Amino acid sequence: MIFIISDKDYEEIGPTAIVTAYPRIFTDIPYEKEIYHWLKSHCNENVILNKMLAPEIEARYKLINEILEKYKIKQVLELAAGYSSRGLVYSKKGYNYVELDLEKVSKNKKEILNVVEHNIPNNLNIISGNALRIDDFKNIESYLKEDEKIVVINEGLLRYLSFDEKKLVAQNIYEILSKYGGIWITSDVTPKKFIQSQNESLKNLNKDLSNITSRNNLNDRFEDEKHIRTFFGNIGFELVEIHKFSEIKDELYSINELGIVNDKIEQTLEDAIVVVMKVKK
Ligand SMILES: C[S@@+](CC[C@H](N)C(=O)[O-])C[C@H]1O[C@@H](n2cnc3c(N)ncnc32)[C@H](O)[C@@H]1O
Repeated sequence: MIFIISDKDYEEIGPTAIVTAYPRIFTDIPYEKEIYHWLKSHCNENVILNKMLAPEIEARYKLINEILEKYKIKQVLELAAGYSSRGLVYSKKGYNYVELDLEKVSKNKKEILNVVEHNIPNNLNIISGNALRIDDFKNIESYLKEDEKIVVINEGLLRYLSFDEKKLVAQNIYEILSKYGGIWITSDVTPKKFIQSQNESLKNLNKDLSNITSRNNLNDRFEDEKHIRTFFGNIGFELVEIHKFSEIKDELYSINELGIVNDKIEQTLEDAIVVVMKVKK
């Protein structure tokens, strides 16, 4: 299938970055309260916010960090980084960090960082671009150190894309990892059973997301682990690790902060996963 990639087709996903930024204020993740404070006073997007999403969002953020640190690769490309503080945190730890998001979100992010952190580290680059477009990936390369491996991260992008669109993103990641070496860490392989338990634990969440974007579609979910392996295997990836969000349960500040005692939220953490992939030899 031949795609004409227009940024306009993806802009409706942008406001979901506020939906995921808000629950992080109930966590101990640095800078998130300041970031949300800026969003609250500068963006009048009409989005329904749900603090009960905090354990899930905190778990994926922290689990991805834990995996990132394990690999000891200090160069990161985060796709669809939204308003997450990860780039700021890791660039301050000395990582060469590149974030890619659509124009409006990237522009806001730069303004936010100028307010939150007066001196944005030189090794943090916020780039405007489309994760489906290979030319935008080529543009990113001018911010990368050629002789270093790279970790590609994305949380909260592929779930809004059709399988043909997911394939384009994965092919772009394949190209960059083939050249630099490294790994791809993502929580964006949400199997259908995760969405089912998310619907149980957060009754209106998916309905509210579908009101923000027409792209929150159950048909665009993976069936199960086998489906994930086959889909990415056909593009040239090997799945090397699978982690459940529940692995990080004891580190979830938001559960205490919000006094959450809820079996259904625990089930969601059990069904949601982060995977690590690398290019097949
Ligand atoms: C649910 S938000 C997730 C943001 C962030 N990763 C987080 O966890 O808070 C989805 C993000 O995907 C971005 N996005 C959507 N389509 C995109 C595309 N084609 N290329 C790059 N970013 C895209 C949106 O602008 C938004 O920031």
